[in-house]
Amino acid sequence: MPTALDQVILGDCLDVLADSPGAVVDLAYVDPPFNTGRTLAASNGAYRDTWTNLDDYLNFLGPRLTAVRRVLKPTGSILVHCDWRTCHHLRLMLDNLFGSANFVNHLIWSYGLGGSSPRRFARKHDDILFYAKSDGYYFRPPMVPATSNRMKGQLKKAADVIEIPAINNMAHERVGYPTQKPLALLKLLVDACCPPGGVVLDPMCGSGTTLVAAAKTARCFIGIDVNPDAVKICDQRLHCTSARGYASAASTS
Ligand SMILES: C[S@@+](CC[C@H](N)C(=O)[O-])C[C@H]1O[C@@H](n2cnc3c(N)ncnc32)[C@H](O)[C@@H]1O
Repeated sequence: MPTALDQVILGDCLDVLADSPGAVVDLAYVDPPFNTGRTLAASNGAYRDTWTNLDDYLNFLGPRLTAVRRVLKPTGSILVHCDWRTCHHLRLMLDNLFGSANFVNHLIWSYGLGGSSPRRFARKHDDILFYAKSDGYYFRPPMVPATSNRMKGQLKKAADVIEIPAINNMAHERVGYPTQKPLALLKLLVDACCPPGGVVLDPMCGSGTTLVAAAKTARCFIGIDVNPDAVKICDQRLHCTSARGYASAASTS
């Protein structure tokens, strides 16, 4: 990984991170394929989310999360976005990798959209696991409107359930990339977990939502994705967003 900031790199994050110096990143947000068993296709880009079995999936993710940990500063932290399929496995993996004492939060992103089932409660949330590399990690609690009568009109520190709607089909921010996350979610997370001016890494950046959030909140960013279509979309979004000299490095070297 080149040390220059504000760039998007095409390649497998395992290879790209292997070329990086250690301890350079303040916050890593990792939104990997979810082991859905599908090939996700849309108007812009497609990627495979099919694995032979759970071990195959965990064997893919383990070395990549280890590589991410190496590039975190001693004060750095990681957010791993997953869902009911793998959350329990990833929690154990991250306990092993970061130490259970460095677990910070299990965030629930409650998104509202989606179907229901007569056979179970409707699944309307994702899980975001927050671990720090050490006790010296950065955190500034987001402030949200209080809902109780006693605190009406005031702000309070956000809780670990984040209610932000998923991007609907007509949303202005939609770029057509499967699994694109809402910018409001990423801005909240980056603002809370990365110091101003710090470095945000998204090693599986997809359409680049995290990178846009970093640019909009005055953080530096490094994005990596193995899908050339993803890197193209990031380029387009970032050229419109970043006030700094944004550079694309569309190669694995
Ligand atoms: C869930 S999507 C990320 C969506 C993103 N957060 C957004 O808002 O658009 C996962 C991404 O991981 C990428 N990916 C899968 N394996 C990868 C690898 N080994 N290295 C880098 N990127 C990878 C896929 O191409 C896909 O874009």
